[in-house]
Amino acid sequence: MDHFTYIDGELCCQGVRLADIASEFGTPTYVYSRATLEEHYRRLSTAFAELKPLICFSVKSCPNIHVLRALVEAGAGLDVVSLGELRRARLANVPAERIVFAGVGKSEAEVRAALTGDGDATGQAEPIGMFNIESEPEYEAVGLVARALNKPARAALRVNPNVKAGGHDYIATGYDQTKFGVDLLHARTLLRKFNKEKLLPLTGVHIHIGSSILSPAPYVQAITSVLAMIDELAAEGVNIDTLDIGGGFGADYHTGDAPSPDEYARHIVPLLRERVAKGLRIIIEPGRMIAASAGVLLLRVVYVKHNAHKKFVICDAGMNALIRPALYDAFHFIWPVSVSPMHEPVRRTDSPDMPGLEPCDIVGPLCESGDFLAHDRKVPIVARGELLAVFTAGAYGMSMASRYNSHPLPAEVLVDGSKPRLIRRRETLDDLMTHELGTM
Ligand code: LLP
Repeated sequence: MDHFTYIDGELCCQGVRLADIASEFGTPTYVYSRATLEEHYRRLSTAFAELKPLICFSVKSCPNIHVLRALVEAGAGLDVVSLGELRRARLANVPAERIVFAGVGKSEAEVRAALTGDGDATGQAEPIGMFNIESEPEYEAVGLVARALNKPARAALRVNPNVKAGGHDYIATGYDQTKFGVDLLHARTLLRKFNKEKLLPLTGVHIHIGSSILSPAPYVQAITSVLAMIDELAAEGVNIDTLDIGGGFGADYHTGDAPSPDEYARHIVPLLRERVAKGLRIIIEPGRMIAASAGVLLLRVVYVKHNAHKKFVICDAGMNALIRPALYDAFHFIWPVSVSPMHEPVRRTDSPDMPGLEPCDIVGPLCESGDFLAHDRKVPIVARGELLAVFTAGAYGMSMASRYNSHPLPAEVLVDGSKPRLIRRRETLDDLMTHELGTM
């Protein structure tokens, strides 16, 4: 579900023509639909309502402060993994107790900022809701800071349940070859040891088994195994009051790829319902499911070029703006912004069945062969100057964009009602050089 639709051959976001957005703000530009973000949040919270979960949007997927504010206004908390994301969360005005902090390498400065604010933009701040702790040395380090500041904090232990799930090896996090969390055996030891600590009681369990998980089954497997551990510990008087089941829910890169929130909930809620009734608190950390299809990347075709065996559609950005195809071989549906009515796509697919399409590589201007958005993709014939939309680009698009080949970062626009609003201006050449010149 999203609010990017063709009306009389023109791609629109909530009724606003993408061609008008390109005229006003230029390209490359990320365009987000506020109504889609809100609807995804609402669908997920309705599906899991019985568990009364705290839904912490994963900032890394789409960190623009205006996007975060829209979701916080809808009721979301935020999942952060760095000082930078923490600053974004504070600036998005999320109540501190709705922030959870994950990541395997939290620095002392990050822990301090999570407990008191980073002393800069926000000054003193309330402690965050929960640290998701990834190792024993990290627990000790967070404990030291909490003691030095005399600030109590809540902590959950990230457990690695050894379940392999996720759309690509690089984004599978819940099996025993990855750096994430601690195995079930060691987890028992740590939870016993630190469960009753005064300033930093370890009373939560966190799992995040991977990203782009297109079935509820791995969740069921992972949750079932941590629940067995929780029950065992409870019998010894070690009490776990919070279970954070992470994110990882899929998005529709092709139409129909991802189970609906209801479908995930149908399998997950029954595992947890009774425990929630007895007081267990549930946290969910979705990123992609909320943001992916709420954004498109708007590009302009710079040249169309024919080599001996291939046609190339060369756009004004490629892997610098969207690295997912190069890094994960990820599929993104790409289609012209203005088409004849017969070319309005009915489904987002890698093999559209319509007359008048031609296969091509859709590439960026960068100097390496990895700079592609699609290989051998059939699309309507496009000419120099036309606009293309790269769909389902709202998650891990702008957040992973780079300035490679010294291209400034794209602009970001949020369509709010029927108004497109610039939420990040396009970088300038001065922006590119400023830190280097500033050092002389
Ligand atoms: N919680 C934790 C602890 C995470 O590490 C992540 C994502 C999430 C939640 C949100 O996962 P989601 O619901 O978005 O799947 N760059 C990759 C995705 C990396 C995901 C990293 N962790 C991509 O473009 O596919």
